[in-house]
Order: sequence, then structure tokens, then C-alpha cells
Amino acid sequence: MKVREYKKITQEVFRLMDEGVHVIDARGKTIIYNEAMAQLEKMDLKDVLNKNFKDVFKNLDESNSTLLRALRKEATENRLQTYQNIDGKEITTINSSYPVILDNKVIGAIEIAKNITELQQMSKTILKLHSVPAESKQAKKHQIKKYHFSDIIGQNKKFLEVIEKAKKAAKSDASVLIYGETGTGKELVAQSIHHDGIRSDKSFLAQNFAALPGSLLEGILFGTAKGGFTGAVDRIGLFEQADGGTLLLDEISAMPYELQGKLLRVLQEDYIRRVGGTEDIPIDVRIIATINEPAESLIEKGKLRKDLYYRLSVIPINIPPLRERKDDILLLAEKFLEKHNQLNNKQIRVISDRAKEKLMEYDYPGNVRELENIIMAAVSMIEDEHVLDDDHLTIEKDQRKRTASLEEVAELGLNNYMSMIESHLIDEAMSMNQGNISKAAKQLGIKRQTLQHKLKKYNNIG
Ligand SMILES: Nc1ncnc2c1ncn2[C@@H]1O[C@H](COP(=O)(O)OP(=O)(O)OP(=O)(O)O)[C@@H](O)[C@H]1O
Ligand SMILES: [Mg+2]
Repeated sequence: MKVREYKKITQEVFRLMDEGVHVIDARGKTIIYNEAMAQLEKMDLKDVLNKNFKDVFKNLDESNSTLLRALRKEATENRLQTYQNIDGKEITTINSSYPVILDNKVIGAIEIAKNITELQQMSKTILKLHSVPAESKQAKKHQIKKYHFSDIIGQNKKFLEVIEKAKKAAKSDASVLIYGETGTGKELVAQSIHHDGIRSDKSFLAQNFAALPGSLLEGILFGTAKGGFTGAVDRIGLFEQADGGTLLLDEISAMPYELQGKLLRVLQEDYIRRVGGTEDIPIDVRIIATINEPAESLIEKGKLRKDLYYRLSVIPINIPPLRERKDDILLLAEKFLEKHNQLNNKQIRVISDRAKEKLMEYDYPGNVRELENIIMAAVSMIEDEHVLDDDHLTIEKDQRKRTASLEEVAELGLNNYMSMIESHLIDEAMSMNQGNISKAAKQLGIKRQTLQHKLKKYNNIG
């Protein structure tokens, strides 16, 4: 191989490495300084490369630089350093410096730096997670309100079939994959499967993957082991904690792709290995996973591994959105009314026909959770009346259309976009005021004539 080619290849190796590398020759000139090191030290490659070390790092000398000391044959291994970089971010590295000796002479010195900032944060987080007493707030994130099948409300035929399937799942030990839009009751069903199932006397733990940065998840799931270089302590992960019980992997598609592969291996082999550990620990955990987009589309987008999907969906459960089971809307509304009456000491006895109509018309992008919020808000609004009427219901008409996105604005042009919003608001004001133009105008804070003019413009009236 030509020297030029060899040089190119070594350069690429250094460029792609995760560890920072800094090499100086016998006279202290930097001959290798890679991207990772530049990033760690917040330096520009060109300001360091081929320059004399002491000219660049003016505050360093033989007394405080391990690299310079290595030129004197003094090696330093695995030194933990925590410092603030120029951006004020705290960085923790493990540094080692070695002399390079040829024919008994020092020809240079090498420094290798591993950035363990993330690992360190991870172990701190896990420490926090596991050092809190079971009843504290932190722990409640993992051990939440207990739901049973008896808490699930519904009469829709398709929905009841889904619940039947979930009840069968409770009698088995197979993995369950629950798909449903946000607020459809995935957690409710997952918990019911556990609490009314064969593992109910063991723990139920839940971890939402959208809530945590990917770098922390592995340690949280599998625990960490006292490592040679990480400085991490032995800590138990969720898999070990849930041993014998059930682990809910919520929004599994938010789990980093690589970690999905590791999870699959764990599920196939029934043992885990802590991060940084060497011991295989047998585990017996029932897995329930959730997704809020169809599996096919997640797989296509590369957010869900196909092999993991097959492993998880031994029992697939698809909870239909509320708009596809409209016969549940009023039943749920009545139950929620009863619940919030009690919670707030109110005596609202009926839902008016107009309110029912309004509830039935809406399509609930936030599903059951949104319906409950609507009822809850209405209850808090009503003072001493006994009827929940339609004007107590704050339903965002055309909610989704009203969330502006820059692309939409760009597509329509700002003027057209504003007109669209204006027209929606007018629509809403008119229906809230039963078509009374004076009242609607007052609510919109404009003159009656102006509203009339705008109604004509937008063809809102005949
Ligand atoms: N069929 C139902 N009967 C009674 N309450 C329900 C039902 N479905 C959902 N809920 C209630 O709606 C709320 C949302 O349910 P849950 O948290 O299980 O939804 P989710 O599908 O996990 O939502 P997300 O995807 O946003 O996490 C909860 O308060 C739950 O009790
Ligand atoms: Mg949920």
C-alpha cells in the first residue's frame, strides 16, 4: 500500500472514532488530533494540528498536563476528569496518556479521552430512580394507579370484542402489543391484563420511551454494573425489578433502533446483562408494549424493528378510536359526569339534548381522555344548575385545522391563511350564539355591520 493511501486510512480511523485522540511528537508538536478530541475540548482542528502543544494550550505545562508528562516516560491511566467546556457544559472524561518508545527513545506521546458524560448522567438518573422509597412521587411514575377490567367502560360491539381478547390475554403469559391512538385506554387495558391476570401478585412497572433520552434507557431497562472505567455502581434495572411480574414498554417506537435489537435478544434469551457487566442474569418478565401509530407504518418509517414487532405481537390488541365507536360517547360522558360530580360535590343530574348532540358530533382526536377533560371542564364551570348544557362544553371545533403550521401558511399565503382562521372563528361564534349576529359580534369584539360584511364575504350565510 502506498504511504498516501495508508495515511488516508489512518486519518479516517481517527476521524470516525468516538474517543478523542491527541498525539504529539518528541518536540511537543501535535501530529494527530481527531474530531472527537476537538469536540471535547471545543477547539478547532486547525488551531491545534501541526502547532506546538504549549503554544496552543498556554495554561498547561509538565506539572498539569499528562500528555507532556508522557514525553518524560510517565504514563497516566484512566484518570477521571470533570470540567466545564467553553459552552459551560459539564463534561466528564476518562483520560489516559502514554509515551511512545522506539529504540529506547521517546518519540512521542498519546492521549486518549473517552467522553463518559452521558454514562455518568445515566448512572446518576438510575441512582435517583432506585434510591427513592416506593411510595414517593418518583416511584409513582413507575407504579401508578391500579386499573382493572371493571374500570373499563364501553358497549360498542367491536370494543367489547377487543376487551374480550384482552381478558383472554390476562390468562396467558404471551407478549401483548396494544395499538391505539392517544387517549384510547392503552394503559388502562395493559394494567387490567396485569392486575386481573396470573401475575397480579407481582409488580407491574411501566416505562414510557418518549419521556427519556435514548442514552439513558439501556441502563434504566437493564441496570448498570460496577465497571472498570465508567465509575458506575451496581444498579438494578426495570427488568430485574419487574422479575416475575409485568413490564409495560410504553411507546416502544420511541426506543432507539439499536436498543430495540438488544431488547429482542433479551426477550428471546430470557436473560439480561447489565450495562458494563459480564454476568447473565435470568429474568422472567411478561411484556406488554404499546404503539400509537399502526405497526406497519412504524416499520416502514424505520421506527419499529420488524423482528421485534413479531416477537411482541403474539397477542395484538387494537383499540378503536372513539370516533369509530360513537355508541360509547354518551355512556362514557354519563360515567365521567357521575365521577366528577362526586369529586367536586356537585349535583348535575342530566346532560341536555343539545349538549348530547354536540358531544356526538365531535370526533375526539384525543379520544376518551379528551372526552373526560371536556366533561370535567363543564362540571367545574357549572355552579348550582342541574343540567349540563351545550354551552358548558368547550369543544374546539375543527381543532386540528386551527393549529397553524408554517408549511400550511406558506402553502396558502399569509392573507388566505388569516382569512381561513377568521372564517372558522366567525363560524364558531355564530354557532355558540345560535346564529344571533349581534351576540356573535359582541363576542368577537367587532361591530355588527363588520360581522355582517364578513359573513357575506365568507359565505357563512345564505
Ligand atoms: N374505556 C374506558 N373507560 C373508562 N376510562 C377510560 C377508557 N378509555 C380510556 N379511559 C380513561 O382515559 C384516560 C386515558 O387512558 P390511557 O392513559 O389508558 O390512554 P393511552 O391510550 O395510554 O393514551 P396515551 O397514548 O396518550 O398514553 C385515562 O384517564 C383512562 O382512565
Ligand atoms: Mg399511555
